[in-house]
Amino acid sequence: GAQGPLDQRQRPLRDLRISVTDRCNFRCSYCMPKDVFGKDYQYLPHSALLSFEEITRAARIFVGQGVGKLRITGGEPLLRKNLESLIEQLAALNTPEGEPVDLTLTTNGSILARKARALKDAGLKRLTVSLDSLDDALFRRMNDMDFPVATVLQGIEAAQAVGFANIKVNMVVKRGVNDHEVTSMARHFRGSGVTLRFIEFMDVGATNGWRMEEVLPSDELLERLQGEFDLLPLHATAPGETAVRWGYADANGQHDARLGEIGLISSVTHAFCHACNRARLSTEGRLFLCLFASEGWDLRSLLRGGASDEDIAAAIAHIWGQRNDNYSEQRSQHPEIAQLRKRVEMSYIGG
Ligand code: GTP
Ligand code: 5AD
Ligand code: SF4
Ligand code: SF4
Repeated sequence: GAQGPLDQRQRPLRDLRISVTDRCNFRCSYCMPKDVFGKDYQYLPHSALLSFEEITRAARIFVGQGVGKLRITGGEPLLRKNLESLIEQLAALNTPEGEPVDLTLTTNGSILARKARALKDAGLKRLTVSLDSLDDALFRRMNDMDFPVATVLQGIEAAQAVGFANIKVNMVVKRGVNDHEVTSMARHFRGSGVTLRFIEFMDVGATNGWRMEEVLPSDELLERLQGEFDLLPLHATAPGETAVRWGYADANGQHDARLGEIGLISSVTHAFCHACNRARLSTEGRLFLCLFASEGWDLRSLLRGGASDEDIAAAIAHIWGQRNDNYSEQRSQHPEIAQLRKRVEMSYIGG
């Protein structure tokens, strides 16, 4: 199997999430609240962003260090101009074993209907769409831009129509805001070929006013679903996976693949740091070793400063080798650290 460095907790590096823009056309309050990300907010200037050539070079080096999965994120990645050409370059990367990399993208779906064909043609393999509500009024409130839910649903359909299979939909659940929609979302996507995943509202960043009272613990969410559906636990498909999977059962109590599955991403109540193999490359080329990190490592200086691929590979291996992050596990034991630590924003380092 793939080699590469192990961190201080013996975790390999397998998954690189690349943020291609810090901008977004939504203002979800848990991510880019309007009062912080307003008209005067200073986004990164174009010269600060990694170019597509720089991203591809970095990704190639990461793949040489054991990464087999690349996820393009933002902000809203589809806002980055000519993104298809980056996707084409990334889709051409192979692992040292000669396997093509798993290339996927997370989008809010707002302009997906327009872009789906070009993304598919460029070689994008998989797609995750964020969607917090099917209720148009609530969806408009949650994205805080009065954006209609129908357009996102059309985006998902367009993506299916051009051949994206196994699309995932991520729903961030906030108690008292959209938690009453958990079962209707499940009903909507059951049997549609889309895997719905419920994400516990996290204390990521420093601006979203996170409170434990607004988290719906996954155990409680699962009980609600089990009140309506027959679900059975499924095995993990990959080590270090974020979601715990449950399949819809048929009349004989077996998993009915046509009905599909759901996932529970329980960063708050069941931390999954023990096998976390994810690194994040920010829009301006800083390497973050944890979603909750305060600081990143400046790879852009190396990329622009004449370092060779070998130098950069050695730097990445060294940085990963001293990684010790397990923020969510620490927060489970000491909830008070959620208030103490300085953290970067998710729109900047990518989900
Ligand atoms: P695939 O299943 O391969 O599509 O990838 P994935 O499970 O990593 O999915 P995705 O990137 O869609 O992640 C889903 C959500 O889980 C993210 O949007 C985050 O909210 C959360 N998440 C992902 N990685 C981490 C992580 O390392 N730590 C924490 N705390 N949350 C994470
Ligand atoms: N808690 C949980 N999930 C979040 N996301 C963004 N901010 C948060 C948060 N505070 C999710 C989005 C999207 C992905 C990029 O990250 O809904 O699915
Ligand atoms: Fe934009 Fe996604 Fe953040 Fe919402 S969660 S503001 S859609 S980047
Ligand atoms: Fe990985 Fe940090 Fe998330 Fe834990 S909190 S799973 S270490 S990114």
